[in-house]
Amino acid sequence: MSENLDDDIIICRCEDITLSEIRQSIGEGNLSTEEIKRSCRCGMGPCQGRTCMPLVAQELAKITGKPLAEIPLPTFRQPVATISLGALGGGGVDE
Ligand code: FES
Repeated sequence: MSENLDDDIIICRCEDITLSEIRQSIGEGNLSTEEIKRSCRCGMGPCQGRTCMPLVAQELAKITGKPLAEIPLPTFRQPVATISLGALGGGGVDE
């Protein structure tokens, strides 16, 4: 059993990143959501950080003492979605 139960909390369910990994990344000097994203892949899953990045920003605010409003979120890309080759070739939408 972990000494600190919070450490096992999954923050990024797409990339399976725990709170302890986020805290470790911050401890290594990654003090922005963009740096944390690059250091541990948190926010690079199919949802592109829509679920986890607000939680990462909250943890950053807590550890650094900055107001949450001063911690910018990384830019979001469109979520991954499948598209058929027929639709790409102009054949219309598959049923
Ligand atoms: S929950 Fe982190 S990228 Fe989806």
